[in-house]
This record gives sequence, structure tokens and C-alpha cells, in this order.
Amino acid sequence: MAEKEHQPLPYANGHGRSDAEAGAAAHDAREQRKKKRTKCFIYIALFVIFQLGVIAIFSVTVMKIRTPKFRIRSAHLTTFHAGTPGSPSFSGTVNAEFSVKNANFGRYKYRNTTVGFFYKGTPVGQVFVRDSRAGWRSTKKFRVVVDLNLANAQGNPQLASDLNAGVVQITSQARMAGRVELIFVMKKNKSTDMNCNMEIVTATQQIRNLVCK
Ligand SMILES: *[C@@H]1O[C@H](CO)[C@@H](O)[C@H](O)[C@H]1NC(C)=O
Ligand SMILES: *[C@@H]1O[C@H](CO)[C@@H](O)[C@H](O)[C@H]1NC(C)=O
Repeated sequence: MAEKEHQPLPYANGHGRSDAEAGAAAHDAREQRKKKRTKCFIYIALFVIFQLGVIAIFSVTVMKIRTPKFRIRSAHLTTFHAGTPGSPSFSGTVNAEFSVKNANFGRYKYRNTTVGFFYKGTPVGQVFVRDSRAGWRSTKKFRVVVDLNLANAQGNPQLASDLNAGVVQITSQARMAGRVELIFVMKKNKSTDMNCNMEIVTATQQIRNLVCK
């Protein structure tokens, strides 16, 4: 009981809080405001950093222009005739499926393209690819028929030995020009090269080891 009497009584002087208390309260309020401001700046800074992060991620994913891939997906022979090693030549027809793989977040419009087929650098056939488009993040596939022909190859001792061995190497090459359209507004010219290799096995008339770079 006696302890209670020694406790200071609030508002005992009749003027409410003392001047010292009022000063302390004002100081507290200032401190509070300062804290609030600091917090606000921290939030703004964090928001700006977050936005920069979003933009950075956006620019390396969605806005990044990737080179489309123009390839031969599959190929098989429908006809093939090989000359003799004494009179080396060959002719045949290839049924192939081409693809244009577009990994961009926007369609790829490509222009008319000619794909050349070669035997050790000698042109042996070509096929025309009509201009078209590959949708965003999709692969456009289409079938083509290519006639291969290498006649009068007497001056090509390599062919005689390849026909002897029964394996003829064919390469296909093309440069496809086109344009990537990101989010319909950002447009950028982008070319892609086809560079494929395959082997014709003369005995079975099959194509094996089709590899595109
Ligand atoms: C692409 O080829 C087609 C068919 O040969 C032709 O009609 C068209 O004009 C060509 N486009 C361009 C841009 O050359
Ligand atoms: C893109 O290619 C087209 C057709 O060749 C050309 O007219 C245009 O100027 C090129 N744009 C750029 C930015 O290189």
C-alpha cells in the first residue's frame, strides 16, 4: 500500500503533460515521420530494382531475337539409279520434310528461298521454298520433292569410288532471309542457314545419317 503513494501521479499539476514531456512527444513524432520517410524511400528503391529486374529478364527472354533454324527433318529416296564405276553418275528423287523452327516470341516471316543439293561441292539438285511464316514459338513443317542428278561425272574419280563403296554423300545448303516480328511492332531482319549432310546407301536405296548443323 505504501509503495503506491510514491508513484508519480499523472496530470497532478493540473496543466496536463509537463513541457519536458511535450518536447519528448514532439521529438518522437519527428522521429516517427523520419522513419516513415526512410521506409518510403526504401520501398521506392526496392520497386525500382524490381522493375529493372523485370525489364532485364524480359529483355533476355521475350525480347531476345533468336536465329530460327532451317533444317531437313527427314528424307527418303523414292527412286535412285546409280551408274557404273566405269561410267559414274546417279539420279534419284528425294522426298523430304523441311522445318523452320522459330523460338521467338513473335512470328518469323521468311522470303523465297532456294535450297541447293551438292555432291562434294558439285550442284546436283535444288528445290524452291515459297515465302511464308512460322508462328511464334512454333515449328513450320512442309514436304518437298527434290530431283538429284549427276551425269557425265567421268572427271570425278571420287564418285566412281563412292559408287563402288555404295555410299554417296549429299549436302544441302541454303540461306533463308526473313524477319522476326516481336510483339507485332519490333521487326528485325534475321537470316538462317541450312547446312545438312546425308548419305545415300545405293544398295538399299536409303538415306542414313541425316545431320543438320
Ligand atoms: C516468291 O515466289 C513466288 C512464286 O514464284 C512469286 O510469285 C513471288 O513474287 C516471290 N516473292 C518475291 C518477294 O520475290
Ligand atoms: C530488311 O530486309 C529488307 C528486304 O531485304 C530491306 O528492305 C530492309 O531495309 C531490311 N531492314 C533492315 C533494318 O536491315
